[in-house]
Amino acid sequence: MSTPQPPDRLNVTDAGTLGLLLSRRSGSAKAMTAPGPDAAQLELILTAATRVPDHGKLTPWRFVVFEGEARAAFGEKLAALFAAANPTAIPEIVELERRRFLRAPTIVAVISRALGNAKVPEWEQVLSAGAVCMNLLLATHAQGLTGSWLTEWPSYDERVRPLLGLAAHERVAGFVYLGTPAAPLEDRPRPPLETIVTRWTP
Ligand SMILES: Cc1cc2nc3c(=O)[nH]c(=O)nc-3n(C[C@H](O)[C@H](O)[C@H](O)COP(=O)(O)O)c2cc1C
Repeated sequence: MSTPQPPDRLNVTDAGTLGLLLSRRSGSAKAMTAPGPDAAQLELILTAATRVPDHGKLTPWRFVVFEGEARAAFGEKLAALFAAANPTAIPEIVELERRRFLRAPTIVAVISRALGNAKVPEWEQVLSAGAVCMNLLLATHAQGLTGSWLTEWPSYDERVRPLLGLAAHERVAGFVYLGTPAAPLEDRPRPPLETIVTRWTP
């Protein structure tokens, strides 16, 4: 009689999962094109993104999705903020800001909503938001699409916060750009394990 498999292994082969992990890389937002995830794919991606460890079950993160015309509308607001802060900026640079959110068909802002006074250390809640971003990238890769986790200035600008509806304790963990790579993805060197792994000894 064969050994019963735990349910979570039924549809996942080690080769498939490791292949996914070992082949993932970012696609440059500048080299991203349509299509992005369709509605069903995006739902899967966001659902997968929520399957992260979360000490205390606090759900210390949420998503803001930018698609379609919302990207241009947000870009208009970014360009206005940028121009106000940089009055000598040439029009071409302001135009880049206007088009910032048009680089990809879909952008998901992952918002960390870690609370400093929770029973769980704030650091752990922030780490959980990082795991959400990573799952988002992996689920995107699994759909044959590509993703890029960026922060850039809009993540840190006080004037952008109300545009995203951020509460005082909320921060942008990342804007994850999702789309189709316009060209084959390049990889980058990965750190050799011997440079980052030590064995603890007493
Ligand atoms: C939290 C975080 C924020 C990042 N923000 C930026 C950014 O603003 N601009 C940028 O060029 N890369 C940024 N990166 C790096 C990109 O995601 C980078 O392309 C990626 O790390 C490439 O590695 P990969 O191919 O293993 O994904 C950020 C990475 C992380 C983890």
